[in-house]
Amino acid sequence: MTGQDQTAANFSLNGISVSLGALDHNTTLLNFIRASGLTGTKEGCSEGDCGACTVAVLTPDASGKPKYQAVNACLMLAGMAVGLEVWTSEGIGQPEALHAVQAAMSSAGGSQCGYCTPGFVMSMFSETYADHLEFDEAALVGNLCRCTGYRPIREAAHALPKPKANDPFFERLNTSSVSKSAFSVNGFHRPDHLPEALRLLETLPNARMIAGGTDMALEITTAFKRFENLISLEGIPELLEIREVEGFLEIGAGVSLSRLETELRGRVPLLDELWTWFASRQIRNRATLGGNLGTASPIGDAPVVLLALEAQLVLSSIQGERTVPLSDYFLGYRKTLLRTFELIKTIRIPIENLGTINPAHELASKQYLQAMYKIAKRGHDDISTVMAAFHLEMENNLVTKARLAFGGVAAIPIRALETEKTLIGQVWNRVAIDKAKKVLALEFKPISDARASASYRARIIPNLLEKFWLENTGVNA
Ligand SMILES: Cc1cc2nc3c(=O)[nH]c(=O)nc-3n(C[C@H](O)[C@H](O)[C@H](O)COP(=O)(O)OP(=O)(O)OC[C@H]3O[C@@H](n4cnc5c(N)ncnc54)[C@H](O)[C@@H]3O)c2cc1C
Ligand code: FES
Ligand code: FES
Repeated sequence: MTGQDQTAANFSLNGISVSLGALDHNTTLLNFIRASGLTGTKEGCSEGDCGACTVAVLTPDASGKPKYQAVNACLMLAGMAVGLEVWTSEGIGQPEALHAVQAAMSSAGGSQCGYCTPGFVMSMFSETYADHLEFDEAALVGNLCRCTGYRPIREAAHALPKPKANDPFFERLNTSSVSKSAFSVNGFHRPDHLPEALRLLETLPNARMIAGGTDMALEITTAFKRFENLISLEGIPELLEIREVEGFLEIGAGVSLSRLETELRGRVPLLDELWTWFASRQIRNRATLGGNLGTASPIGDAPVVLLALEAQLVLSSIQGERTVPLSDYFLGYRKTLLRTFELIKTIRIPIENLGTINPAHELASKQYLQAMYKIAKRGHDDISTVMAAFHLEMENNLVTKARLAFGGVAAIPIRALETEKTLIGQVWNRVAIDKAKKVLALEFKPISDARASASYRARIIPNLLEKFWLENTGVNA
């Protein structure tokens, strides 16, 4: 990668090549688009919550094949679009020649004030070109409408025809040459291999790494921070691998959550369950596990599941690599053992803990019990008040292993070690659960905040173990 290579810093906006030029690298894609005169894309919240800013980005998938993704333009920086195609509601149709999605919204009466409409249209547009037959309503979870009501919007979605082979947007899936190749312009740097990313991290002043940006962009849009140097992790193949090797499922820290959702479906049941409750499609298209761990929030969801699965982290710096158990990673409120200039390269989960049938561990008498529970104010697109993930192993009805992980109950995502000890060696029955619930009720001292009171959280914690027991016995006695 060369230094200030401004010529490479272009992307396609509605089919026209645009350059970042001397743009402040902290500028969001939304502001860039609207400053270009394309004001169809709206700003509602600037926090990823409303979906009014949704645009479709044509981006390479894991195999390099172009794919449309709905994203929140308020959470993407303009630099992240370099090498890609960005499409807005103005680019996909005209008043006299509407795109099929726009026509469906119009004839179903799916728009009143119209503020949310371009965002819905672009979410539907991306879903229409996905390679599955049925329209997946989960594609609309990240779009809010305040006046039309969702029935006509759903009707429009389900009325959509699958694109024809000569549809120009469908053709782009085969003809476009989108890529996330290396570039560096102003303070935004996208290296294309790990050693270069680590070198930039050490040498650039005040450098911060950025993956999907779904946490980092909020620092810009709501806390008005300006980052001197941002190192994008999106073009680094070493962070984008998913593989099984030597008894571990290894997930690159830069893999997007929606990729995990599709590529690991059925392989890690606890993660399958998690994605339903994790943010929205737009967020999961961008967010990564590395970012969820890097941000070290006490209410981050993935760390809870990963603690229950006994995950490890491979940390990488110019000095080399080290592997640490995730249970040692969190040190205090938003503090981790990650050193300056070090990044999370890989998340490793022992295959024997995944919870799927594994011939090597399929002893007749051995049983795995797993569950995760997310308590939040809204079912979808909300962050946790309390989150729990449980993994239990039993032989002949005797608990041999227990990992009970929680979020939102302490300054860090944490395991209930005392309760685990209480359960291990016990027969899995009502007496053991009642004893464990008493220990669990005293194990954490949750705080009150805007989401819930301490006493609410304190009641929820043992109740989740009760729920787990009931779900896994079917006996309420
Ligand atoms: C509307 C909305 C809903 C959300 N819902 C949820 C939810 O349901 N559950 C939940 O847990 N979170 C949620 N989040 C938070 C966020 O989406 C996640 O934390 C996400 O996983 C962050 O990933 P990212 O790649 O976007 O991180 P970024 O924003 O790119 O980075 C976050 C932090 O991690 C660091 N970082 C990134 N990659 C690495 C790496 N490889 N090594 C070390 N540090 C790294 C960055 O420097 C930064 O400090 C939500 C956010 C929004 C805006
Ligand atoms: S403006 Fe609300 S999600 Fe972007
Ligand atoms: S049409 Fe008014 S917010 Fe949806």
